[in-house]
Amino acid sequence: MAFDFTTKRWWRKMKRYLKWRLKNPFAPYEDYYVYSVMKKIRHGSGHPAIGSASRPVRGHDELLEFLKRYGLQPNDVAVDYGCGSLRLGRAVIDYLEPGKFWGVDITSEFYELGLAAMEPELLRQKAPKLGVINPETLAKVRADKPRFIGSWHVCSKVPEARLDSYVGSIISLMTAGSTAIIHFPETAERRQLSGLAWASPRSLMEKVVRRHAPNARISFDPLTDTESEGVRQTLLVIRT
Ligand SMILES: C[S@@+](CC[C@H](N)C(=O)[O-])C[C@H]1O[C@@H](n2cnc3c(N)ncnc32)[C@H](O)[C@@H]1O
Repeated sequence: MAFDFTTKRWWRKMKRYLKWRLKNPFAPYEDYYVYSVMKKIRHGSGHPAIGSASRPVRGHDELLEFLKRYGLQPNDVAVDYGCGSLRLGRAVIDYLEPGKFWGVDITSEFYELGLAAMEPELLRQKAPKLGVINPETLAKVRADKPRFIGSWHVCSKVPEARLDSYVGSIISLMTAGSTAIIHFPETAERRQLSGLAWASPRSLMEKVVRRHAPNARISFDPLTDTESEGVRQTLLVIRT
């Protein structure tokens, strides 16, 4: 296993995970992610991607700009899959016509932080739709026939055993003519980047997509031109 952080630090994080797992033997892994992030936020140390201390890695409009590049129009329905506290979703809400934005996440706690920080007038005008990822929410999103699904900084948080469920859920929202764009850190081999983040080879991503959408068109585009320590920022584009 390749780790770019020290064994001591890794062991500290592993102990934290095992302690949580003993208390929550049947909880899905996603609950551990929520627990870890909310613990940081509640203790006041803040989180780089969620809540009031969050900042975009590049720009607030990155998700919007890429969706537009792939053809997003204001009257399309678009989904921010794993929207967090709407750090990038806000610009998409602003761009789309009222009622056309869906933000979904594994917990409502994250997007509630985002909604609380947003101007009430913008929320009133744009009426974004938000929901926790579960069969009922996914059915509601599907009924709105989204043309675009974007998932930014999410795939990296999904352990390999949960990739099928993550990608399969995104594909389940697609209908003929829709496009899903999944950002992921790309490496030659699956690699753990930190306690809660992994990078994947494109062959793995393609294999998972093929299991759920054998006839989809799949391509890979660069998100940025940079590569750091063998990690590239890549977009997996799925078209049905
Ligand atoms: C680093 S945050 C990014 C949030 C948002 N996309 C952004 O860029 O601001 C990762 C997000 O992925 C969500 N997430 C983690 N595992 C997920 C899964 N299996 N399915 C959907 N969302 C997931 C987390 O709840 C969190 O909101």
